[in-house]
Amino acid sequence: MSKEENRGQWGSRSGFILAAIGSAIGLGNIWRFPYVAASNGGGAFLIPYLVALFTAGIPLLILEFAMGHKIRSSAPGVFAKLNKKYEAIGWFQTLIAFFITTYYVVIIAWSFSYLFFAFTGAWGTDPKAFLFGDYLKLGDAPSTLGNLGASLGGLNLKVAVPLLLVWGINYGVLRMGVKNGLEKANKIFMPLLIIALLVIVVRGVTLPGAMAGLDYFFTPDFSKLTDPKVWLAAYGQIFFSLSICFAIMYAYASYLPKKSDIVNNAFMTGLGNCSFSLISGIGVFSILGFMAHTQGVSVAEVSTAGVGLAFIVFPEAINQLPGMNGLIGGVFFITLIFAGLSSSMSIMEAVVAAISDKFKLTRVQALNRFALTSGILSLLVATNGGLYVLDIVDYATNQYGIVIAGILELVILGWFFNLESVRTYVNELSDFRVGKWWIWAIKGTSVLLVVILALKIKGEIAA
Ligand code: PFF
Ligand code: NA
Repeated sequence: MSKEENRGQWGSRSGFILAAIGSAIGLGNIWRFPYVAASNGGGAFLIPYLVALFTAGIPLLILEFAMGHKIRSSAPGVFAKLNKKYEAIGWFQTLIAFFITTYYVVIIAWSFSYLFFAFTGAWGTDPKAFLFGDYLKLGDAPSTLGNLGASLGGLNLKVAVPLLLVWGINYGVLRMGVKNGLEKANKIFMPLLIIALLVIVVRGVTLPGAMAGLDYFFTPDFSKLTDPKVWLAAYGQIFFSLSICFAIMYAYASYLPKKSDIVNNAFMTGLGNCSFSLISGIGVFSILGFMAHTQGVSVAEVSTAGVGLAFIVFPEAINQLPGMNGLIGGVFFITLIFAGLSSSMSIMEAVVAAISDKFKLTRVQALNRFALTSGILSLLVATNGGLYVLDIVDYATNQYGIVIAGILELVILGWFFNLESVRTYVNELSDFRVGKWWIWAIKGTSVLLVVILALKIKGEIAA
């Protein structure tokens, strides 16, 4: 087998785009975006969000697609090609992907559990007790180290059992390779994801109270536009949501055929992800509006993000739904599962590709080593102390890891590397040509990230 065949290749243009959009659309679109938007100016948040998409999101996608395609390597190899001493940057990004994997798979495992519970109604009338009865309270430090040790010792079977399933699916897909594994899986998952989302949206907007939820989501508060935190939130959401600076898009783009329209692919990925976020926001907030309506409280009172939204507030809402509530509840968790799986396999691919490129291992050898270590670590998150571990890893990677990874990547590429040559390369391949603005977008984003990090360290931006 030639080296090229060993690396694998997407079988079609749509295969790559679906996989890239699949990586982008994830848990973050469903439980993070709606909340971030609502709490940062509602409808007005769309302005910084779109500015971040066009000044940083899409330009960075173009950059990562181009570098992965040109150098045909995962992140460490891309940076090593520029200069041996930059290879560490690629490994740093790969390490972040490795750590995100350990908790991302666990959230998908919860979703599988809750898919099952949706039909049995197992969470009863108090979903909060159902979830936190087993876990330390989210965000609470365990009172003593011994306490943490004890809770980490207890494997939570509601999580550990479906976790095996999640690993099984991801392992199977990655083992089948790029075209027969990743591409096929995304071709199945993504259409199902869209259908599931539409079911949720249609059910959501036809519920009593939906309009109040949508009002809350969309009513613009323009005064927020002068608050730097709102802009920070918009850029943060774009980075996480588009899976950029996580080593992923390099690996995915390294499997592109020689002739590929980079610019077009980047726009499709960025715009597709953004549309999904908006539509899922409509679904989520109409259901939150319904919740507020049945409880006679304001929408703000039931709005929350993350674990609390998916595994406490939504189960409560599902309890209240008129008719077929188990089914609708199930569909909600199915959207989380499909969105999550198509992202988790991309994070894993970034790590597996890096290991196999560097150590000249086959895909399966690299995959086995990765799955063994990451699988064992993920069990730690499937214990009774799991939410605590998740919180720490999530905080470290998303608040600092990705900002630092972004700075390293953009400073090196933007200021110490000839981006003009990348622009020429991209323009030879693409129908729509990028102008000089693109180079300034990369340089400008690097400066912005440095400012953000400095403000964070000074404590002026709350985490
Ligand atoms: N983009 C995904 C989301 O918004 O949920 C999350 C994600 C996937 C982040 C893959 C990082 C990653 F490596
Ligand atoms: Na996804």
